[in-house]
Amino acid sequence: MSIKFTVTERDGTSLARNGILELAHGSMETPAFMPVGTNGSVKAISHQKLEEMGVPLILGNTYHLYLRPGTEVIDAYGGLHQFSSWKGNILTDSGGFQVFSLATFRKITEEGVRFRSHIDGSYHELTPEKVVGIQNSLNSDIAMVLDVCTPPDIEYREALKALEITTAWAKRSLKEWQLHDPAPGRALFPILQGNFYKDLRQRSAEELLPLDFPGVAVGGLSVGEPFPLFLEMLHHTGELLPPEKPHYLMGIGTPEYILAAVENGIDLFDCVFPTRIARNGSVFTPRGVMALKNARFEKDTGPIDSECDCTACRRYSRAYIRHLFKAKEILGPMLATEHNIHFLMRMTRNIRTAIRNSAFREYKEAFLDEYRGKHT
Ligand code: GUN
Ligand code: ZN
Repeated sequence: MSIKFTVTERDGTSLARNGILELAHGSMETPAFMPVGTNGSVKAISHQKLEEMGVPLILGNTYHLYLRPGTEVIDAYGGLHQFSSWKGNILTDSGGFQVFSLATFRKITEEGVRFRSHIDGSYHELTPEKVVGIQNSLNSDIAMVLDVCTPPDIEYREALKALEITTAWAKRSLKEWQLHDPAPGRALFPILQGNFYKDLRQRSAEELLPLDFPGVAVGGLSVGEPFPLFLEMLHHTGELLPPEKPHYLMGIGTPEYILAAVENGIDLFDCVFPTRIARNGSVFTPRGVMALKNARFEKDTGPIDSECDCTACRRYSRAYIRHLFKAKEILGPMLATEHNIHFLMRMTRNIRTAIRNSAFREYKEAFLDEYRGKHT
């Protein structure tokens, strides 16, 4: 087996479980939040801070790193770890999602996807084989297959077509992956699609799971659909996942989504949201998201969150950090980013403790009551 995953504890009342995932650049406890470092850098925070906070894995993006700096530069270093000097694990997304969300033009064929770069308008083609090759250059610990991610509200036959291509691409990706004899501790994950049609979700699982990848990702969720629909599809998909393998839900990272994911057996998740809202002055607190630019914090001498021991909360006041945002000082986004990642690291640690105590549901209810302001 390319990587090792051990389920260490089960919650009992839900699909929530704790695990240890052993990868080439260290083992990590799950459930885990993985910060997004699109260009080989988590925006507004140093690798050193991430290490100090115990972040075991960051994401990189095949789409971005292929366009800039390009694989020749990465190859000169022997991979993204050395190039970026990140010592922990790296998961790279395949570019499937980014081509759909960023490229100014795209055309999907059975062969691959042609698109125009959002950076300079140049034309490129990505195929499943090429995407595996780029991720081999990046030497990511977890690589993802090229997939077709679809928006909500598309017709059945369109969703079916996307699913068929995704399956065909996953098979080609696996073949290419095996051809290059990946190092121990590295793995390729397929991505379940199927849009918001339950039978297609099931079919995606039936087609991809027998290929026996060492883990599995769920894609095409949290793409603009209402939360209840997300929950319904997540629950439906969660029950299809092989219990002994790691489950990665792509693109989610708010407390509500994380709790729903864990409850449905998800082990890994990532999202730009926590770091993106931080750069805009919004921070997580146990009582909900706080927009620091709000005038009510102008003279607020307290910390963002008195229970948090990140740099922002240990050292600075809400009023000072608000001032930094108002004055457009770079320290503002830096402090808010550290806080939001720290918040999710603490939250996932508390989730793992709750699972260990077979008390996940109680934890979730108590967390959400406070987070949604139902506390007394
Ligand atoms: N990130 C969030 N959702 C997706 C998805 O469906 N596919 C890929 N490749 N990345 C994602
Ligand atoms: Zn903090």
